[in-house]
Amino acid sequence: MAGNSSEIFALFGNPVGHSLSPLMHNATFKRMKIDANYIPFCVRNLEDAVRGIRGLDIRGVSITLPFKTTVMPYLDEVDESSLRIGAVNTILNDGKGCLKGYNTDWIGLICDLKESLETRGKTFGILGAGGAAKAAVFGILKEGGIPIILNRTIEKGQKMARDFGCRFYPLSEIGNIEADCLINTTPVGMVPDPGKSPVLRESLVHFRWVMDIIYNPLMTKLLRDAEEVGCTVLSGVGMFVHQGAEQIKIWTGVEPPRSFMKQVVLERLKERD
Ligand code: ATR
Repeated sequence: MAGNSSEIFALFGNPVGHSLSPLMHNATFKRMKIDANYIPFCVRNLEDAVRGIRGLDIRGVSITLPFKTTVMPYLDEVDESSLRIGAVNTILNDGKGCLKGYNTDWIGLICDLKESLETRGKTFGILGAGGAAKAAVFGILKEGGIPIILNRTIEKGQKMARDFGCRFYPLSEIGNIEADCLINTTPVGMVPDPGKSPVLRESLVHFRWVMDIIYNPLMTKLLRDAEEVGCTVLSGVGMFVHQGAEQIKIWTGVEPPRSFMKQVVLERLKERD
């Protein structure tokens, strides 16, 4: 590489202060003996920030809220999965300033689910109809699972169900839904509001597995309730680590040490608990 003494990677979001990606990625680069720095940026102007990737020869960028969809028009290319999901969480700079967008959220979710269950033929209740829900539904369909969307706002859930060709129910009907696994993609239960759950505990008896994509706190109210009624629970930390590992694979072409990454993140989260 021409100018920078070490390679630069970045996180673009607003806010970014609480993200664990800098901790995880910097520790992982060090462990992999890659001379690189991963820097969080609180973005004020997205178009200018994306121009800065080329101008500063930043090699790869993670995109987080609220830019996962709005970043897409500024990229030179977007892969097929991101187009279908309508969101990009990873940018690769090919070194000549050509920026390609990817989505590793869906792969992260699938990698984590597959550590606990066989997805093929299983039914999945998906809480929410935003970008994270789309990544989950896309991944589950790709792996031969059957998603059922549950959302508070009916029109939004119905539209998403039409787009992906799956079933939809209003969130208020969750008590009547049966599926193998329930996945929460809403922000309900995340710090600073960890006392909340998107659903009543009684409705969880209809699921064998319950996953929350929230990883802070590690055990959300939803997961604590689910454990109490006998479900097997999956916290969001696994998905977070796998989506980050897939980013490193895209940026470097090398498989990173995933269990080390998980250990780094878990240690920090346990300090916060
Ligand atoms: P993301 O892109 O991270 O998934 P989003 O697009 O804001 O975020 O989507 C968040 C989802 O969580 C939405 O489906 C939202 O439901 P609505 O479509 O009804 O807005 C859901 N959500 C957010 N707060 C919620 C709450 N208090 N109860 C139920 N669902 C909620």
